[in-house]
Formats: sequence, C-alpha cells, structure tokens
Amino acid sequence: MIIGVGIGPGDPDWLTQRGAKLIREAEWIVGFRTVNGFVQEMISESAEVLHLTYKNQTEELERAAQAHQQGKNVVVLFMGDPHFSGFQMIERLERACGHPVEILPGISAAQILASKTKVCFDETTFLTFHRRGDLEPFKRHLLHVLEDQRNAIVIPHTWDFMPAGIASYLIEQGISSDHQVEVWEHLTASEAAWQGTLAECTQEFSDMSIMLIRTLQPMPSQV
Ligand SMILES: C[S@@+](CC[C@H](N)C(=O)[O-])C[C@H]1O[C@@H](n2cnc3c(N)ncnc32)[C@H](O)[C@@H]1O
Repeated sequence: MIIGVGIGPGDPDWLTQRGAKLIREAEWIVGFRTVNGFVQEMISESAEVLHLTYKNQTEELERAAQAHQQGKNVVVLFMGDPHFSGFQMIERLERACGHPVEILPGISAAQILASKTKVCFDETTFLTFHRRGDLEPFKRHLLHVLEDQRNAIVIPHTWDFMPAGIASYLIEQGISSDHQVEVWEHLTASEAAWQGTLAECTQEFSDMSIMLIRTLQPMPSQV
C-alpha cells in the first residue's frame, strides 16, 4: 500500500486521526526532513525513513514505489493539505508508482489563516507561487483575483518571490497600494503575524510564511 498523507500545518494536534493512524502503522515514511520532523514521535522505531530533498526526490520516490510494489506499507508525507501547493509532488509520486495514489487530505495553512483572519472561502482565492516552472501565469492570475474584488491567500516562492516581492510586483502592475495585507509565520507553532498595507509590506519573512491580501471592496457578506 502507498498513500499520501497531509499532516496539517505543523502542530500534530491538527493532524487528522486517520493520518496519525496511517503514520503509526507505516513501514516506510517518506517526506522532506522538516515535514518528517513534525510527526517524528508517531513514526515507528522500525520504520524505514526516507528524507527527500529537491535533488534526490525523484530517486527516493522511486525507491518508495518499489517498496510499495514489494508489499510494504508506505506513507508519503505532505505539509498541510496535499491538494494545495502539493500537486507537483503528487504527480512525481504517481509517475514513480505508475498509477494513481490515494491522498488523505489535511488541514492547510490556508485554512488556519482564513480562520485567524476571518475571511470567507467563497470570496477568497488560494494561490501558490511555491512551485517549479514559469510563475508568470500565476502572477497574472493574482492580478485578476484582486481586480475581481476577491481576497487572495498566497503562498510565496521561498526566497525568490516573497511577500515584499509580491507586494512590489502588484503595485508596479497598478494594484492599489492601500490593500490590507497580513503575513503569518509558523502557524500553529511559534506564530507571528504582521499587518499593514501593500505599500508597507517591505520586510523579510521566514520560509514558513503565508500571506493574505484583502480586497478593497468587501462583498456584502463581509460588511
Ligand atoms: C509546499 S507549500 C505546502 C502548503 C501545504 N500543502 C498547505 O496546505 O499548507 C509549503 C509552504 O506553505 C507555507 N506554509 C506551510 N505551513 C505553514 C505554516 N504552518 N505557517 C505558515 N506558512 C506555512 C510556507 O510558505 C511553506 O513554505
């Protein structure tokens, strides 16, 4: 068996019971070192643990797929919910296996942020820059989201397109610098929050940060 498990936003209290059970019973655990670390105490001492890196992930996912084909019980860990900003890794996993893989949803950092900042999913678009390849179509999409008077919850591209870069890009493209912005770091752990306008969003944040850009004109339900 092989399954992808969303571990939630960090604190294991936010991991689903089904996810925790799968992790405890796994013979093989596969994930990035920081992600594996969040659920360390649930991993069986006898489990084989593979630490993925951006360089080794294709080979290590192939090793995991082989273990699954030999009948091992393999769990591949994803931060948050794998369906948000995790799809490229799901595709790599399925390529390695040669077939679709079941994915267990988790609680996303975006859900925690929406709850902290009281934004309604219906009026908010979730968007990630934490991906490989051309970011331009996603940048344009963010412009359209704000032009359509929707909120945006945005995962930055670690170090290359961080909140300050996103803010200056939006202002350059003609988006009002008055939009209210919140950046939250390390949600459910050592949480830190910053609040200001797009114009004021110039400082650096950690790689565990997520950004809310509020619409200028809230829809009636938000008033
Ligand atoms: C590859 S994306 C995965 C997102 C994940 N699938 C989710 O649903 O939350 C990883 C990025 O999400 C953001 N992130 C994930 N967990 C976070 C948290 N607890 N607090 C703040 N940002 C977080 C950070 O920007 C991090 O670099």
